[in-house]
Amino acid sequence: MALDLTGVDLTTAVVRTARLVLRPFRPDDADAVFRACQDPGHRRWLPNLPEPYTRADAEEFVTVAAARGRARGTALDTAVEAGGGLVGACGVRHLDGGGGLLGPDVGYWTAPWARGRGYASEAARGLADWAFGYGAERVHLFADVDNVASQTVAERAGFTREGVVRRCLAYRDGRRADAVLFGRLREG
Ligand SMILES: CC(C)(COP(=O)(O)OP(=O)(O)OC[C@H]1O[C@@H](n2cnc3c(N)ncnc32)[C@H](O)[C@@H]1OP(=O)(O)O)[C@@H](O)C(=O)NCCC(=O)NCCS
Repeated sequence: MALDLTGVDLTTAVVRTARLVLRPFRPDDADAVFRACQDPGHRRWLPNLPEPYTRADAEEFVTVAAARGRARGTALDTAVEAGGGLVGACGVRHLDGGGGLLGPDVGYWTAPWARGRGYASEAARGLADWAFGYGAERVHLFADVDNVASQTVAERAGFTREGVVRRCLAYRDGRRADAVLFGRLREG
């Protein structure tokens, strides 16, 4: 069985977990996204963030970039909400087979004010489960070998360490880094 999203409207899809609502980004998320993305941890581990990260970048992200994959049917990028407030972001991408042999992949960040409560693990687990529910065989993620917090998140979310992929991460300063590849299979 392959991933099949026939009949799913990704533009509005919402995934719920025990404590979280994973929903489309909205224009009023821009302020929280802007504040979260000033964090040095974001700057260090998320190589695609513009530098400096401006209020306009946040507005473009919540209104355009985060909706693009949903509109194309390739990704489910979600705002992670807990108790009515935005606490992070989590997405599952390459839903259209663009991930090649490895299949769809998950990515996440948690706002500095909401870290250490297991939100990223719960969100990553929830989005992987969502993809398995539509037939994905496997879901993977990459974490820099030095990003211990992200590796902890991956393990808490049920992913297994599969190996190290050398020099696959490209950072803004031209540096390349090794990543741990984590995978989860549909059957657990
Ligand atoms: C990685 C990240 C998403 C974790 O968010 P979170 O919601 O706090 O994650 P969780 O609460 O689910 O778990 C984090 C675990 O890592 C641990 N941790 C946090 N920072 C750590 C660090 N610098 N070194 C070692 N462990 C760390 C936490 O203590 C926690 O484990 P614990 O429950 O045993 O205490 C967050 O730090 C972040 O957004 N970082 C910047 C972006 C990023 O790295 N994204 C992932 C790219 S692959």
